[in-house]
Amino acid sequence: MLESLKKLLEKDTMKVIGLISGTSCDGVDAALCELSGHGVGNLKVKVIAYHSEPYSDALKKKILDISNPKAGHTDELCRLNFRIGDSFSRAAENIIERAGLPREAIDLIGSHGQTVAHLPPRTEIGPGSTGHVQRHGSTLQLGEPAMIAERMNVPVISNFRARDMAAGGQGAPLVPYVDYLYFTHPERTRAVINIGGISNMTYIPKGAKIESVLAFDSGPGNMIIDALIQRITQNKVHYDKNGEAASKGQVDGYILNELLKHPYLKLEPPKSTGREEFGATYANQVFEWGIGRSVKPSDILRTATDFTAITLADAYKKYLLAKGPVDEIIISGGGAMNGTLMARMKREFGAAPIALSDDYGMPIKAKEAIAFAILARETILGNPGNLPSVTGASGLRILGQITPP
Ligand SMILES: Nc1ncnc2c1ncn2[C@@H]1O[C@H](COP(=O)(O)OP(=O)(O)O)[C@@H](O)[C@H]1O
Ligand SMILES: [Mg+2]
Repeated sequence: MLESLKKLLEKDTMKVIGLISGTSCDGVDAALCELSGHGVGNLKVKVIAYHSEPYSDALKKKILDISNPKAGHTDELCRLNFRIGDSFSRAAENIIERAGLPREAIDLIGSHGQTVAHLPPRTEIGPGSTGHVQRHGSTLQLGEPAMIAERMNVPVISNFRARDMAAGGQGAPLVPYVDYLYFTHPERTRAVINIGGISNMTYIPKGAKIESVLAFDSGPGNMIIDALIQRITQNKVHYDKNGEAASKGQVDGYILNELLKHPYLKLEPPKSTGREEFGATYANQVFEWGIGRSVKPSDILRTATDFTAITLADAYKKYLLAKGPVDEIIISGGGAMNGTLMARMKREFGAAPIALSDDYGMPIKAKEAIAFAILARETILGNPGNLPSVTGASGLRILGQITPP
């Protein structure tokens, strides 16, 4: 084994950087944390610094272009892999600068990369469906780890999703394993919800056993809202800050009802989704449809915001609450900052107490980055990082690939 990795194993406490850019394509979230302890209830996470490195408009556009199956070119994909790797290594560099630490202080980096395609194994549900079931899904995250290892001289764990998919899983969501390690409580049943581009939820019954954790993507997060406001403002505004634009609109009941018929919402977990189902193509359809029915743009935005809140609440009631009372709901992700979305969620969720992950030591903007720092350490320790009950994989697997320093 590599000497540097051997030394790493001897450390009780590791300083690990987690890096991720989610489906929102807003930029790289980085978290530097100190990790110690093993297993449920014993894992200790101390967040030293976190930082978001926004993508330039040009890079964001290239990523969205390449994510469109009809527009992708292989040479562009190839270049983007290194360019995104460069953005990720800059995010890592900036976070150690922010923390005032030298490179040598960092033990490990976990990099999720940028998803450009995620095709889970399941019966095709789109128009023109053949009902064909793929045996394996496939997924592609860009952000060349060699670029990060080269710049930082730190071992990098990357490509976390592939192994779970090779084992027949959805390759997603992966954060639930971390939720299980970190949020399991002996007496309190918790629902942990992340509202990124897509929303996902993890159900952790009190004193959870690994197989009793349930998690899945509930559907859209900010994805439709972002695409709509970009369309409405001709790309001048990238997201609905605090939900202000939506708060000025009214819900169109007819469109809301139609949106709630989306076939993804009827699939039983395990399930995961992405830009393929709720991305710009879908948002454009919603927009055109609204305009065609003479619905005002601000009303379309409000309807999409409420749609997102309702899909979250419906999934919560149907799959989590159905198992018994939930004591705490813990929210993270950029969507937690959308006041209109949060207000509608609170209404839909009823009496259940909703808190932000900040109150649990995980800043809402950094939670997913922290999760990939934790997953990287699990890989180095030889522990699995997937939850077969969640992804549908045929068993526990050690995730990721190692790029040495
Ligand atoms: N102040 C805010 N008000 C409303 N929405 C916000 C705010 N800040 C971030 N967001 C939303 O959060 C999204 C980014 O969330 P993030 O958790 O990074 O998602 P992802 O993991 O998909 O990248 C943005 O695209 C935006 O829609
Ligand atoms: Mg993001």
